[in-house]
Amino acid sequence: MTSTKSASRSRSFFEESGVAGFTHRAFTKSMGYDDADMARPVIGICNTYSELNNCNRHLKELAEAVKRGVWQAGGLPLEFPTISLGEIFLTPTSMLYRNLAAMDTEEMIRAQPLDGVVLLVNCDKTIPAALMGAASADLPAILLSGGPMLSGHYQGEVLGACTDCRRLTAEYQAGVLDAASYQEIEDGIVRSIGHCMVMGTASTMNSLAEALGIALPGNGSIPAPDSRRLRLGVAAGRRIVELAREGVRPSQIMTKQAFENAITLLCALGGSTNAVVHLPAIAGRLGIELPLGLFDEISRRSPMITNMRPAGQYQMEDLFYAGGISAVLSQLLPLLHGELLTVTGHSLADNVEGAKTYNSDVIRTLDDVLQSEGGLAILRGNLAPDGAVIKHPAATARLLHHRGRAVVFRDMDDLRARINSPDLDVVEDDVLVLQNVGPVGGPGMPEVGNFPIPGKLLKRGVRDMVRISDARMSGTAFGTIVLHVAPESAVGGPLSLVQDGDEIELDVSKRRLHLHVDEAELVRRRATWRAPDLVFQRGYSWLYLKHVTQAPQGCDFDFLRGADPVQSAEQPKF
Ligand code: FES
Repeated sequence: MTSTKSASRSRSFFEESGVAGFTHRAFTKSMGYDDADMARPVIGICNTYSELNNCNRHLKELAEAVKRGVWQAGGLPLEFPTISLGEIFLTPTSMLYRNLAAMDTEEMIRAQPLDGVVLLVNCDKTIPAALMGAASADLPAILLSGGPMLSGHYQGEVLGACTDCRRLTAEYQAGVLDAASYQEIEDGIVRSIGHCMVMGTASTMNSLAEALGIALPGNGSIPAPDSRRLRLGVAAGRRIVELAREGVRPSQIMTKQAFENAITLLCALGGSTNAVVHLPAIAGRLGIELPLGLFDEISRRSPMITNMRPAGQYQMEDLFYAGGISAVLSQLLPLLHGELLTVTGHSLADNVEGAKTYNSDVIRTLDDVLQSEGGLAILRGNLAPDGAVIKHPAATARLLHHRGRAVVFRDMDDLRARINSPDLDVVEDDVLVLQNVGPVGGPGMPEVGNFPIPGKLLKRGVRDMVRISDARMSGTAFGTIVLHVAPESAVGGPLSLVQDGDEIELDVSKRRLHLHVDEAELVRRRATWRAPDLVFQRGYSWLYLKHVTQAPQGCDFDFLRGADPVQSAEQPKF
């Protein structure tokens, strides 16, 4: 090999002079690669496969498809693992580890001799973690998801994970479903590879990646078991080699306007409230501010045009058959920055040109919307000075303007101890408040915002009440749930001062969340407030508590915001 240095990171690695270059080549040859292979652009396949993550369990096969594409286009594919976050399997909550996974992704992209990377993701947190890390490293990248599960079925009824997990468990606990039926549902609700198939967080984020321009068309909705998913993998492999040659970086794709496109799509989909945390975290890595007010502003002017559970009727398989995310983006084009560059090398508008809608009940038009406003509202008031979020299409309409008496739970332990007590002083019109479940208090801002209705009310047929917390909520959940209250109670936010019997008013149309307690009384309560003890004293979790930001800043670590791009911006020469 020559000793001439080029702008390519892999060439610099393999062509380094002296013993360093010798060992780099010799040890690579030990894996069966020759000099011709090492002259190709090296494409990292960053794989979040794990047997402790059911949603990502098929990513090995998808990685093989990506490799075929990379070889075909003249690259050298090298697969490597990063932390995988399985929503179901992590304690206390996967969100506690999102930033750890983002650090892993960023540092491995930076440390290894890669010229481009395909980010293989699927379950909820794997998606923002990969994008956050890739944004900070800023090496050419394509996000490729594993795709959604097929719909579940039970006695002719379509089931959605895990919207129906909660709904049907409530039915079982209320005695409406018998044990045998409940077991049959459990056997059939999660029936294939893939991520949750309602418009939950994974469906939302994998779809938004198309609007951001960082994923190929089809990423959001091709079902996981569909062979088109494998062919999408091959296409991603081919395309990343070209992107690496062109030197097009994530910072050139994920611009402020691209994030505005993603928020518009989020509203059109009635997508997960978790995106209101993840998008600012990804944007923050690129030095882009996404204030909560921007989400509200875009939501007010962006209609909901897809009829997707949990807010609507259909699931990802239906959306795919109806035309997929390309068809949704095509309908939305008048509201989008269609001229923006994407990883295809074409504009967003070019990507979706000719996309057709095959079922107008699933994907509506701008003239026949499901709701004139998007699915998100940002609330403010003396209870949430820095904002709170509600997904109002998934709420009970009569509760969207409601005033009621607070019934307060100090934390999750208190909730578990009392929520089903027959002695709990609670009526249907009360407002349930859960404190200390935010980024610090949770810790990790767990998805407990849709906490249960008190057992005695459940038995009387009550299925929804206004619930307020500083937690998040699964994108698959529903109800009149006020989330992400900021500042959170564990750092002394006003939510920490609420007491049983206080009056709370929610008015979604006015975007208002108000605690009807006079200021002097709040000052008195604040004087006696004490921060809860830190639950972690060492290790990563301690670092998390020390450095996690609040929900409006995306719960990223304060020291991780911003980018530290690898290599120079110089065009690689292959
Ligand atoms: Fe992975 Fe729902 S458990 S997306």
